[in-house]
Amino acid sequence: DIRRRAQDLVSRMTLEEKAGQMTQYDWGFNPINPDTGLSQHNIITEQISQGLIGSMFNLSGAAEVNELQRLAREKTPHGIPLLIGRDVIHGYRTVFPIPLAQASAWNPELAGQTAAAASREALADGVAWVFAPMIDVTRDPRWGRIAESIGEDPYLASAYAKAWVEGAQMDEGPGFASASCPKHFAAYGLAEAGRDYNTVDLSDRMLREVILPPFREAIESGALSIMASFNEINGIPACANRYLLTTILREEWGFEGIVCGDYGAIQELIVHGIAADEEEACILSIKAGLDMDMHSGIYARYLPKLVREGKVLERLVDEAVMRILAVKLKLGLFEQPFVNPSEYATDASLPEAHLALARQSARESIVLLRNEKETLPLRKETASIAVIGPLADSKKDPLGCWALDGRPNDVVSLLEGIRQTVTPGTTLPYVQGCQVDTDSEDGIAEALEAAAGADVVVLALGEAFDMSGESRCRTDLDLPGGQRKLVESVAKLGKPIVAVLISGRPLAIPWLQDYADAIVQAWHLGVQSGHAIADVLFGDYNPSGRLTATFPRNVGQIPIYYYRKNTGRPPGGVHTSYYIDSTTEPLYSFGYGLSYTTFRYGRVQLSQERISPDDAFGITIEVTNEGSRSGEEVVQCYLRDEAASVTQPLKKLIAFRKIKLCAGETAIVTFAIPNSALAIIDADMNLTVEPGNFTLWVGPNSSEGETVRLTVERSAAAVD
Ligand code: IFM
Repeated sequence: DIRRRAQDLVSRMTLEEKAGQMTQYDWGFNPINPDTGLSQHNIITEQISQGLIGSMFNLSGAAEVNELQRLAREKTPHGIPLLIGRDVIHGYRTVFPIPLAQASAWNPELAGQTAAAASREALADGVAWVFAPMIDVTRDPRWGRIAESIGEDPYLASAYAKAWVEGAQMDEGPGFASASCPKHFAAYGLAEAGRDYNTVDLSDRMLREVILPPFREAIESGALSIMASFNEINGIPACANRYLLTTILREEWGFEGIVCGDYGAIQELIVHGIAADEEEACILSIKAGLDMDMHSGIYARYLPKLVREGKVLERLVDEAVMRILAVKLKLGLFEQPFVNPSEYATDASLPEAHLALARQSARESIVLLRNEKETLPLRKETASIAVIGPLADSKKDPLGCWALDGRPNDVVSLLEGIRQTVTPGTTLPYVQGCQVDTDSEDGIAEALEAAAGADVVVLALGEAFDMSGESRCRTDLDLPGGQRKLVESVAKLGKPIVAVLISGRPLAIPWLQDYADAIVQAWHLGVQSGHAIADVLFGDYNPSGRLTATFPRNVGQIPIYYYRKNTGRPPGGVHTSYYIDSTTEPLYSFGYGLSYTTFRYGRVQLSQERISPDDAFGITIEVTNEGSRSGEEVVQCYLRDEAASVTQPLKKLIAFRKIKLCAGETAIVTFAIPNSALAIIDADMNLTVEPGNFTLWVGPNSSEGETVRLTVERSAAAVD
């Protein structure tokens, strides 16, 4: 029925209307034309009334949405509703932790719940298309957008991609309520030198082994759209890259949804130097398979003319419009284009259920990196706790990047969280001590005074909300501003120090271990930040987060990630793959994170030690909570193909499970491993399970674990 309805509409549309459906504009961009005196809004509303625009984004609230939808539905010849998009990256009004933090929870299901809550709030404001999830695998913490990512591993990113797409689209009943837009297709996270939008040059092997799996998973999970990235890949910018947008996406994967470009990306083809002018940029994009033009207006300006001149086949335009209309029909926008004024847009407090979810997600996102002398958890009855640092009482920074609809007033700062947790008699001297954006030492004397009388010092350090995210790359990953000086000065007092890192990326801070007894990686955690951190600091929640992006010791080590190859000369002496001025070991490895309890791993057992290439198998391990408090452990399973026809990483994650164990409890964890986990892409680019030996690890992180050996017998066999 959807296809028939879409076809019927397309058959009645003019070329201008078709190009209009393929055009999206940013409502947040509203300059006045000095010659005509018209604002961009004047122009856009007029074009919508004529059926010449298919999608808008950055509208805020039901009133604006309904007004524009009314024009589209009631004034235009075919009454096609607008598809309203928005960057709903980690929450809407209820801001959840940044995706990199949610990844650290190793709990895709929980992330799916936050995505669903965010879509629900967005939909109430008329936003039926969320530009999420961001599933670019990245191994470069200099890149500001690492904050929006799931981190460095394709398997984990795939698990999150599935849960996020399913959650965001709220496919709970007869149809989808909202469309997701996994992004950025593809390889945006590999921008050279961690500099946003930069050149990407990668092998087809790397593309298919590391970058594409999360996108494929997102598509197989039903994503209704996908966003092409800004970057070039091997010389062809993504939105003009036919290999990516048609060969892989449509022909290999059978994707039928919308491919939209990133902001102005079609126009940028000229700047990239691949198109001489807008007309050529238009031809390259439509021929590559890009359905919707975000904000450049090039499709609207050129497609009708190019079709009439025979330079673009009308069939390509029709197919793109069909896909766009199909999504609008699937979302039920023709039937229900209008929304009631949103409860979330009012000043009313946020829904309890969403706040509870935000707190749970934030708690699970926190990674305990260090805890010497059992400094943590702190006692709620501690007489005096100095809370010091530029991020201690910030309500803006915990929102993180891309919190377009979040409000600082909704945020519980760390200081507030601590205040609401300690016993009434506890004193909490608070000072900022320094700033993140200047080296000034002005606040240090005051900080020393506050710390001097305290039993313990909590230092809230890190990055401001706008130091990560799009176009927020850094070459120096140390604590910015006067923070190092602050730490060094306070440490001289000899008090126990708990450093809480509120950042959007892994920082290179090896020196901090010399000063802080405990280090808590708290990320930008959203509206419940202070409560969640206090839950961890005072032991109401036993930290369970594990890193999904390796922490480097210094910027020179980047890119550094666990999924690396051995080389012919692994580090270990002269003329090996090492540095003369730094270790090759990271500061904290992928999968790492401490708990207030200890987990003992037993012996790993396989269901069979010898299998044929078509066989699945099972791995079982006993995990015991040896401590005196209950806790959650992320049991991680890695694999190495010891000798394959193409070199393989030393370890790759193939399964994980988060389990909760009471004190003294033992769990038997069994992973059912499909034979596809053993597959490699061979020299002919076929997916194959090769015979030979495999080492498997089950353990608490990528550096430790119990091993077992599996043998695959017989000759190679292809797998799907
Ligand atoms: O969705 C984003 C994208 O991630 C980066 N450029 C702008 C888009 C729309 O805001």
